[in-house]
Amino acid sequence: MNALSQIAPSSTGFSGDLSPLRRFVGDLAVLLDGTGDLDAILDRGGALLARLVERDGWLPDAYSAPHPDRYQQYLLHCDSLQRFSVVSFVWGPGQTTPIHDHRVWGLVGVLRGAETVESFQHREHDGALLPHGPARQLLETEVEAIDPRVGDIHRVSNAYADRTSISIHVYGGNIGAVERATYRDTGEERPFISGYANTTLPNLWDLSRTV
Ligand code: FE2
Repeated sequence: MNALSQIAPSSTGFSGDLSPLRRFVGDLAVLLDGTGDLDAILDRGGALLARLVERDGWLPDAYSAPHPDRYQQYLLHCDSLQRFSVVSFVWGPGQTTPIHDHRVWGLVGVLRGAETVESFQHREHDGALLPHGPARQLLETEVEAIDPRVGDIHRVSNAYADRTSISIHVYGGNIGAVERATYRDTGEERPFISGYANTTLPNLWDLSRTV
């Protein structure tokens, strides 16, 4: 039994209460209203995301469903000025992303399961991609930042071969429409615009039950 298999899965049922997500997007908008400093955004935004992922139960089933063949990227919310977007990444057992970059800031928080993150950087003389540090595991409730200033090329995989993992990502733009790249091991870039798996969003704004 490895360390990951000793982690008890948390409750996954949707409670019908989207208020944690609504509070998060409001708090993040206030943060971005107050500062454009990237260090502050990553630091304070990371704390907000940690609060969001510390408790499960708010993500509707439609945005936590794995696909049998490929990971899913569901848009949960996009800021009206497209200053940020919030997505759920859903990995079925063993699924992985291609090596890719982001070109905007990002925050990743694991809601369910665990992920393996491998970072890469270009070799100076020929541009080939080499691993940048060892692969690391991001466990349930942990948060990490994606900072294009220090390198943002990575590959992310479900750390489990036998269950779904889900993380909540926040990006400094409408990430599904950002022109970025995937990479071959040679370092060769391929243009990449990810889009989203969903066509409808969670309704954060029906407050009738709370009035
Ligand atoms: Fe990524």
